[in-house]
Amino acid sequence: MKRPDYTNKLQDLNVLIRSSLKNCGIFNKTLHFFYIKLTPNLPKVRVNADDTSLVIVNLLTNALDSMPNGGKLLIESRHCKEHDSYVQISISDTGYGIKKNKMDKIFWPFFTTKDEGKGIGVGLAISKRIIEDYGGKINVASIQGRGTTITLCLPAAFKSANEE
Ligand SMILES: Nc1ncnc2c1ncn2[C@@H]1O[C@H](COP(=O)(O)OP(=O)(O)O)[C@@H](O)[C@H]1O
Ligand SMILES: [Mg+2]
Repeated sequence: MKRPDYTNKLQDLNVLIRSSLKNCGIFNKTLHFFYIKLTPNLPKVRVNADDTSLVIVNLLTNALDSMPNGGKLLIESRHCKEHDSYVQISISDTGYGIKKNKMDKIFWPFFTTKDEGKGIGVGLAISKRIIEDYGGKINVASIQGRGTTITLCLPAAFKSANEE
């Protein structure tokens, strides 16, 4: 636990990913395959560290929920292929996937397909808000029965003169 800091600062996405992995207890989960592929020396992003970690933890939790019997989890950070002034995080699972007719609903507040007590459907709605507030985007690709990849794109930050 720590005191919240509400300011946006230059942050290294790889550092935020590593701390989020610890915070969601991933190292205690049984997975068949767990792969972390972080591109070193990515441009920093200007975000609130706690909010961004919350988003990553939300996505990791959803990925783990989708694989109740274990599966493969892949976490990557990289330069965005389409826009070189953006950096990306993607989280891929081999879980139950998302039905085509549910794809546009998963970002709606309180939309959940989970049992009562397991999900309340706010994780993705809040995550989308947070990421879009930074001028970023959150994309989802999923095949039912195969798995899901969620990608966060965030604009690389410009440093001001008095920042390291
Ligand atoms: N990785 C994933 N695999 C399968 N379904 C997912 C995944 N991520 C999100 N979903 C779907 O989107 C819904 C909304 O997610 P979220 O907003 O985090 O709420 P919650 O996890 O409380 O249900 C989930 O109930 C689930 O149906
Ligand atoms: Mg969730």
